[in-house]
Amino acid sequence: VITKIKARQILDSRGIPTVEVDLFTNKGMFRASAPSGDPSGMYEAFELRDGDKAVYLGKSVTRAVKNINEKISEALIGMDPTLQSQIDHAMIDLDKTEKKSELGINAILAVSIAACKAGAGEKEVPLYKYIADLAGKSQLTIPTPAFTVISGGKHAGNNLAIQEIMIVPTGAIRFDEALQMGSETYYHLKAVITEKHGAHGCNVGVDGGFAPNISSIKEGLDLVKEAISRTEYTEKISIALGAAASNFCQGTKYDLDFKSPKKSGQNFKSGEEMIEMYKELCAEYPIISIEDPFDKEDWEHIKCISNLGTCQVVGDELLMSNPKRIERAIQENTCNALLLKINQIGTVTEAIEVVKQAKDANWGVVISHRSGETEDSFIADLSVGLSSGQIKAGAPCRGERLAKYNQLLRIEEDLGDAAFYAGDEWRQPLSH
Ligand code: PGA
Repeated sequence: VITKIKARQILDSRGIPTVEVDLFTNKGMFRASAPSGDPSGMYEAFELRDGDKAVYLGKSVTRAVKNINEKISEALIGMDPTLQSQIDHAMIDLDKTEKKSELGINAILAVSIAACKAGAGEKEVPLYKYIADLAGKSQLTIPTPAFTVISGGKHAGNNLAIQEIMIVPTGAIRFDEALQMGSETYYHLKAVITEKHGAHGCNVGVDGGFAPNISSIKEGLDLVKEAISRTEYTEKISIALGAAASNFCQGTKYDLDFKSPKKSGQNFKSGEEMIEMYKELCAEYPIISIEDPFDKEDWEHIKCISNLGTCQVVGDELLMSNPKRIERAIQENTCNALLLKINQIGTVTEAIEVVKQAKDANWGVVISHRSGETEDSFIADLSVGLSSGQIKAGAPCRGERLAKYNQLLRIEEDLGDAAFYAGDEWRQPLSH
């Protein structure tokens, strides 16, 4: 049984406070922490921050910590840690608000993950296996990673409008090979950028992608293409884009120079022009997936592009991991993949449910990190347990990103011959 729950404030990878929790059972102590990102809107769960500008610029989370140490502890102590759904629903009931704003998503999620780890500990099975059991899955798949190699948008200080360019080792046979491809390409890219932009072009963005001072997507893609051509794996690495287009949508237009104060307003594109641009990019580069190609409320243009060609169209801000938004997108055929950010939905139980919802619609599923990460590697186990087929956890560089990729290496080793790397079946891995 759960004997004690103790939370504290720690800092995430951006140096911003977040919540960590130690959950104790008769089997020992299980630790988890909540990731955090740029809040993207009214449909996602609510991150509780203290708001006192004199302390951590208003970002401290002592109220969320107190909620765990008092209200949540009181509700959960004595419960069996293997009853994940009951534990999560006990917190949801205690909170009573739609967006979990009373206790805070940062409080609820950290406890939900810690309970999941404790449940695995109780059953003495690996975490990924335990998650698969919770989700009723018998097959396990190691996801194909999308490594961020160039950062832009709100994640970097350059003039690139879109948030990231990623490389996807779809042609690898195993995950360890995929990670090697990612790392080698990253370092070839570093050399390419140094040659073209000087060493300062290799400064990195919030999740480890290089942030050279480029202003067009094509410039970034050319750098990546050149880096891939210097590897041994030219045919085995594809490209994915994370546009995060809500950041540069103004009214009905998209401002691709939004970060360049001098030029802003001169490179506006209409929705139709954006579709043309994406079509051209997909024809010229091996792009297999685009995330949030349009504003989160621009359902019509996203729908048009989802019906073009074979490129996957992923909803991040469009969906906010919210079951109602996902249902609407399924009904209207708006996109064809879910980006799951667990802190937008809030509990392990609800994360399992929305992944099922997306998979039942034959969508792709990407389990995603946040810009503010911790050393917690839970999403690696989650992606294997749910056979998502895809994971996005930043560059193959920086500790909080590698925590996830390195955990996937361990899982692959642990599974031995039973390990199945999604590879080129990333969209619908075998075990769906
Ligand atoms: P966010 O972005 O955490 O800043 O929302 C993470 C991502 O989409 O890579």
